[in-house]
Amino acid sequence: MNKIKVRVPATSANLGSGFDCCGIALELYNVFEYEKIPKGVIIIGCEDEYANENNLAYVAYKAVCDKIGVNPSVKITILDTGVPVSRGLGSSATLICSGAYAANKLHGCPLSKEEVFEICTELEGHPDNVAPALFGAFCTSVTDMHNNPYTVRTHVSKRIHFTVLIPDFEVKTQDARAALPQMVKREDAVYNMSRVALLASAFKSGDPELLRIVTKDRLHQRYRKPLFKNIEDVENAAYECGAISFMISGAGSTCLCLSTKSIENKLNEKIKNMPNGWVAKELKISKYGTKEVE
Ligand code: HSE
Repeated sequence: MNKIKVRVPATSANLGSGFDCCGIALELYNVFEYEKIPKGVIIIGCEDEYANENNLAYVAYKAVCDKIGVNPSVKITILDTGVPVSRGLGSSATLICSGAYAANKLHGCPLSKEEVFEICTELEGHPDNVAPALFGAFCTSVTDMHNNPYTVRTHVSKRIHFTVLIPDFEVKTQDARAALPQMVKREDAVYNMSRVALLASAFKSGDPELLRIVTKDRLHQRYRKPLFKNIEDVENAAYECGAISFMISGAGSTCLCLSTKSIENKLNEKIKNMPNGWVAKELKISKYGTKEVE
């Protein structure tokens, strides 16, 4: 096998209470082609400044090749970029997961899924996006004292509609993390712990009352909201349209709302004249994660 096409879904991390540990995969995809070549690295389909060996798709491809001891020379073609960049929908995880998956597959799958996941997590720095990007559905992840990641994948109920709200501005992850306090109150820790303990089962059951409660959070969102332009207006619009919960997707700038019926059209109508170009898009859960495609 010399060539492979790989599709990786967008991901939404945190889901309110699951700060830095939970994420879901959504049906919005980046598609890449990887082809073995005798020497060097060629990257096609992105701006010149990213077409070099620092591109995360190549970094991940090479990391897997180095681990298995094979030639990392490759031509990477970015075929489709459905996942917006720097918007809290896991675009960097799509690069990393595609590169690692392709390198393993093109060399006969010597690494297990878990080993590929480990490499992806190390490159991304945390597992909350790479786990659902690789495995699909809802993933709850932990890392042990050696930083080895473990994840549990949970099926997501079809009762829930997922609508992302994407603005025209970016929120830098670095700024969103710098906005967080170093210390948290015990009652806030307990508030999130008790919710995240039920988060996976709430997504699995699709019980709207439970989801309404367990997606609430006190550890990150209230500190980050000042970085978002007119987020309160958009949040109010989502609730007026029938959302059961509203949360920041990853570190932003996209937000995510859950509902029991489709609210995309109603919401777009309500927000269309608001500043900052917010657009609502309903997305299904991606069950399969990173996948070889025709
Ligand atoms: N869990 C991370 C955060 C996601 O909220 O900062 C960003 O990559």
